[in-house]
Amino acid sequence: MESRKHDNFDQFARDYDEVHAETLDISGANRDYFSEYKIEEMSRHEDRSSSLSMLDFGCGDGNSVKYMREYFPNAELFGTDVSELSIKEATEKKVSGSIFKPYDGTTLPFDNESLDVVFTSMVFHHISFDRHDDLLAEITRILKPNGRFYIFEHNPLNPVTRKIVRECAFDDDAILLPHTYTNKMLIKGAFSSQRTLFTLFLPRHKLFRWALKSERLIQWLPLGAQYYVRAVK
Ligand SMILES: C[S@@+](CC[C@H](N)C(=O)[O-])C[C@H]1O[C@@H](n2cnc3c(N)ncnc32)[C@H](O)[C@@H]1O
Repeated sequence: MESRKHDNFDQFARDYDEVHAETLDISGANRDYFSEYKIEEMSRHEDRSSSLSMLDFGCGDGNSVKYMREYFPNAELFGTDVSELSIKEATEKKVSGSIFKPYDGTTLPFDNESLDVVFTSMVFHHISFDRHDDLLAEITRILKPNGRFYIFEHNPLNPVTRKIVRECAFDDDAILLPHTYTNKMLIKGAFSSQRTLFTLFLPRHKLFRWALKSERLIQWLPLGAQYYVRAVK
């Protein structure tokens, strides 16, 4: 497999929080905020109380899985990543009912049609574009019929996002995915329906708190700092 510089995040697994904190100042929020908001967004489309089986693909140190447990108390939670040290860190967090498995970069360690939901956050921009189709085929393979795929990515149309990515140590190999590219990739991947929503239009500093709720009204506008696509198999 062709490997990009940070396909292996072992070098950042232990100090992921510190590396992040240095670059997130401008946004007015911390890493936990960014992890939680994505799970909250996902929970708007899912039945929070049902016993879903849910995978965090490229889970890193498991920060999102912590929030999956909070928002989906009955879910069976899995995480996988090519970075073995990150898998170790994630396992050490001891989130109840969660299992973390290393990924060899080719075959996802899950049976055919075994998962209801695959979630991924800020991973695809670290993977060579020529590998995206094969990876999507793997994700489709492990999703049950009608299973949902949530992909969260940075929005390259947003100048603040581009600045944060430029300055982040572990993003120096990142090639951002335009939302149009992500949509085409998912159509090619044979997902039957999909919806793109943009997020994080305003900084999270106190000054803007009063306006944050209104962001939900403009999630169609391709200017937010990040976006996600919900696709159904
Ligand atoms: C920027 S971090 C994001 C971590 C986590 N998803 C989050 O949102 O906090 C990127 C993660 O993608 C993982 N990664 C990079 N290449 C990968 C690949 N080919 N397959 C799976 N994970 C990969 C890295 O090891 C790292 O944990």
